[in-house]
Amino acid sequence: MCGIMGYVGSKPALPVVLKGLRQLEYRGYDSAGIAIADKDRISVLKCKGKVADLENLVKRENFPGSTALGHTRWATHGEPSTPNAHPHIDCSGKIAIVHNGIIENHAPLRKLLEAEGHTFRSDTDTEVFSHLVEKFYRGDILLAVQEALTLIEGAYAFAVICQDEPDKIVAARRESPLVIGVGNGNEGEYIIASDLVAIVEHTRQAIHLDDGEIGVFQPSGHRIIDKANMKVEKDVESITWSLDKITKGGFPHYMLKEIFEQPETIYDTMRGRILKEKAQIKLGGLEDLIKLPSAEKTTTGLSHLLNSKRIVIIGCGTSWHASLVGEYLFENMLGIPVEVEYASEARYRNFIVDKDTTVIGISQSGETADTLAALREAKRRGAATLGLVNVVGSSIARETHCGVYLHAGPEIGVASTKAFTSQVCLLALMALLIGREKHVITDQRAGTIIQRLLEIPSQVEEILKKSSLIRDMAQRYAGFSNFLYLGRGYNFPIALEGALKLKEISYIHAEGYPAAEMKHGPIALIDENMPVIFIATDTEDQTYQKVISNIEEVKSRHGQVIIIASEGNESIYDVADTVITIPETEYCLTPLLTVIPLQLFAYHMAMLKGYDPDQPRNLAKSVTVE
Ligand code: M6R
Repeated sequence: MCGIMGYVGSKPALPVVLKGLRQLEYRGYDSAGIAIADKDRISVLKCKGKVADLENLVKRENFPGSTALGHTRWATHGEPSTPNAHPHIDCSGKIAIVHNGIIENHAPLRKLLEAEGHTFRSDTDTEVFSHLVEKFYRGDILLAVQEALTLIEGAYAFAVICQDEPDKIVAARRESPLVIGVGNGNEGEYIIASDLVAIVEHTRQAIHLDDGEIGVFQPSGHRIIDKANMKVEKDVESITWSLDKITKGGFPHYMLKEIFEQPETIYDTMRGRILKEKAQIKLGGLEDLIKLPSAEKTTTGLSHLLNSKRIVIIGCGTSWHASLVGEYLFENMLGIPVEVEYASEARYRNFIVDKDTTVIGISQSGETADTLAALREAKRRGAATLGLVNVVGSSIARETHCGVYLHAGPEIGVASTKAFTSQVCLLALMALLIGREKHVITDQRAGTIIQRLLEIPSQVEEILKKSSLIRDMAQRYAGFSNFLYLGRGYNFPIALEGALKLKEISYIHAEGYPAAEMKHGPIALIDENMPVIFIATDTEDQTYQKVISNIEEVKSRHGQVIIIASEGNESIYDVADTVITIPETEYCLTPLLTVIPLQLFAYHMAMLKGYDPDQPRNLAKSVTVE
């Protein structure tokens, strides 16, 4: 939530910061602003609206400065408006700050600062920080920020500039992401950003700030100080993915590009992890050593997982839906008790986990505040924590005991698509790995599932060819304002995911349910105005005939029936108004295929309604606040 961008070096900072803001706009897009420092003044320009509006504003001015901050906002405290847009300045206008997070004790701090004579210009929680830095400024901006931070409660990533020290950016983080791009060679430049996507064009070298760290960055070099006020030497990590991963690659939207990337991204999730001849799986990240405070000895992540009495999987939104697929995979294939929790609930209740539990956190961004907090709580209670994340070097990746990356590449569309299929694919690989280690999956069964997994990328390609068919279907149903999504077993989570996709980018009310639950309530809603999307693929499954009965129940109440079915199921046409088929695969792998038409349906629906699926209203890609 909110994108921070900063540049300090020898080039004009403005174009770098504006471009970075465009790349970070998926994080928030209700207002934007910049602050540029030169030796005479700090200039601040900001406005309500998107980065494009800010660019129009800036066009009329000429700023040569080589130090600048930028921000694209997702409002928490104070409505989207020009005064509430960042950067915020102090009373003198000599200090400018940008912030991502929430200052929980902003109200008492504001009272205190107002009593001391500070004048506020916005309704934000953030502005207290610019005045606090002003209060403590005695000629050293780093010290002032350090002192101000001691009074802040809540989550933050801050970047600060000061007119009296115009060649410096001070940056600090606690629970909100911040990475520092280190300029190549002798250029002596730093790019401060909320996400690597805004850095990668300038440099392949990056430093990840950890919680509690604060750094000062200037052309002559940098210094980072940890929580204990000690200087730390941070590793400069290399960014390996290529630039084309963050462009639209000829697609009109990132979301569509990411939907179409799935044959490749699912393959990338499997790449190097399947030993086909031996029907074995290898996940290097699970081989890391972990030592729990309450355990006698060090073990590997995998051994802990194998010996765990329970597995708890946590996540939010789409990642929570993937967690549910994980529950079906693990319980059906392995017989291990699994619970799936919303991270936001787990973190605040008596979350019963101990050293015999493995808590798996699933997150595309690796920064979701609730997932991170629930994993920390699990760790505090003695459980082993394992992260399945996409963003390399993210907080969850670094704070869990061990973990496995999705390798789906940067996901920029606010609606998660390719990360979901990679999450499900990785969970299937994990189920196979555990099953092989525990000897509950035979060579033959493992071989069959592996073979079917390897077919998935080309099967996804087949479904993607139906995009225009699905667009026609969206056209037929575009006039409806409510949809019900129903599925069972492995495809119950897909019903939830299909409904979420439609809600978040088309603003159409949709509910997902296990199909059998329909008669316990939702059936009351069924009439000719309620299309129902059924996922009914596996004719051999014990619940298939029951889903067919549910379809009949909808039809007899004049509901419209859309069915996602397997190819070759001719009888399905007798009961459906519309059928979209997917190629045949193992039942446990069907979520990897059934979700694709539902992603496309939501996308085409958004197009027909004229909405931008990459920047849906009120949403942000990465939810780093509560
Ligand atoms: O980055 P994460 O996977 O932790 O994000 C979790 C949710 O915020 C995310 O899946 C959200 O629900 C998406 N907008 C869904 O498309």
